[in-house]
Amino acid sequence: MQDQRLKDFLKEFIISDSQLHEVYKRFTTEIQNGLSLATRKQADIKCYMTYIQDLPTGDEKGNYLALDLGGTNFRVLHVSLKGHHEAEIESKVFVVDKELMTGHGTQLFDHIANCLAEFVKEYSLNNQHLPLGFTFSFPCVQLGLTKALLVRWTKGFNCAGSVQEDVGRLLKEAIARRGDLEINVMAILNDTTGTLMSCAHRNPECRIGVIVGTGCNACYVERVENAELLESEYKVDKTHIIVNTEWGAFGESGKLEFVRTDYDRTIDKASLNVGSQLLEKMISGMYLGELVRLVLADAITQNLIFSRTSDKQCLINTLRENVCCFEARFISEIENDNFPDFQQTRTILKELFAMEKASVEDCQKLRYICECISRRAANLVAVGISSLINRIAEPHVVVGVDGSVYRLHPHFDAYMRETMRKLVNPKITFDLMLSEDGSGRGAALVAAVASKN
Ligand code: BGC
Repeated sequence: MQDQRLKDFLKEFIISDSQLHEVYKRFTTEIQNGLSLATRKQADIKCYMTYIQDLPTGDEKGNYLALDLGGTNFRVLHVSLKGHHEAEIESKVFVVDKELMTGHGTQLFDHIANCLAEFVKEYSLNNQHLPLGFTFSFPCVQLGLTKALLVRWTKGFNCAGSVQEDVGRLLKEAIARRGDLEINVMAILNDTTGTLMSCAHRNPECRIGVIVGTGCNACYVERVENAELLESEYKVDKTHIIVNTEWGAFGESGKLEFVRTDYDRTIDKASLNVGSQLLEKMISGMYLGELVRLVLADAITQNLIFSRTSDKQCLINTLRENVCCFEARFISEIENDNFPDFQQTRTILKELFAMEKASVEDCQKLRYICECISRRAANLVAVGISSLINRIAEPHVVVGVDGSVYRLHPHFDAYMRETMRKLVNPKITFDLMLSEDGSGRGAALVAAVASKN
């Protein structure tokens, strides 16, 4: 893409190497602050204890149920762990509509229990007392494996009456209200933990689990002596614990202002959780499309793209009036497109603007806009992962990754690796592996590992 004016316009999305190192430095300090009792109150990154202290061996066996709430879909799963690092999974997706996402917590948990009952019936699993792992992908203070107090909702959820409540209890109560289900809730876990467990099940060198999907977060294996929040009884027999960083909250005390743009601020102001999850809002699928929508509207207004289109104002109005019209998956499709046909880009432009003929140059420009925004997101994820790899400081570290952005975007993995090579200690080698159904297999593994103890 050669257009210098458009390049200048998008400059603020390009993170320079010196900015990258500064974000890295601040991020690394914040992880340390989250782990230390003296500083954690002010820390953006809270580093929650998961109470999971064993990684799977691969020999786990048995039948489990799993619930997965917190991504694009709500799912119920039946997981059979077969030993020899193998698992079989059956699952069903259920809709959680906007009304439920922002209604009362009781309605949401009743819905979850109803879906669970439907699933159990359909797959003839009742009366089996199956242990259940609940992948609940929101920040929680865990008070043990089955007790998790919700700290805050994220990703467009905002259900009344649930913050600071124990989501394990809310689930058990909803199950009890139905009175027809015999289920044993064994563990509540975050999706990052599920990802780490699921990847460690296949590769014992896995130490970090990352989600780049609707939201963004990571967990990692920490030495118990560094986990100051962890009660001493958990330090007697075990050497490690999985820490759920909740890094999406980074930036809330102003540490990312030097790289945030006015577009990021607009997105935050329009969100359900203003001032919260600021790093997440620069990275995750829930916000990436919105960033492109806002940037594109301004770029058209300033005649930087689609300048020869006859009804420019109509494009601008479409973008400004239709919140979320530019979906995150469009970014992946556009960046995956081929020069000079730009077939997918043209289909998207037709869908969005009823545009019949876009010039090759405009398609290239649109791709450049998408690329700047997704590259920035990948750079920021890479900062977080690199910091954790260097902290773990083992000679080789494998990172399990999942989430729609990572899965669907054609270059996200490559962008991340490129930046990680700049930041990871050269004495450490690393690899990224795609997780296979972390929220299902991972939840079953946590339940399995928990029942071993
Ligand atoms: C939540 C995390 C979760 C992440 C990815 C964030 O909004 O706070 O708990 O792991 O999304 O789903």
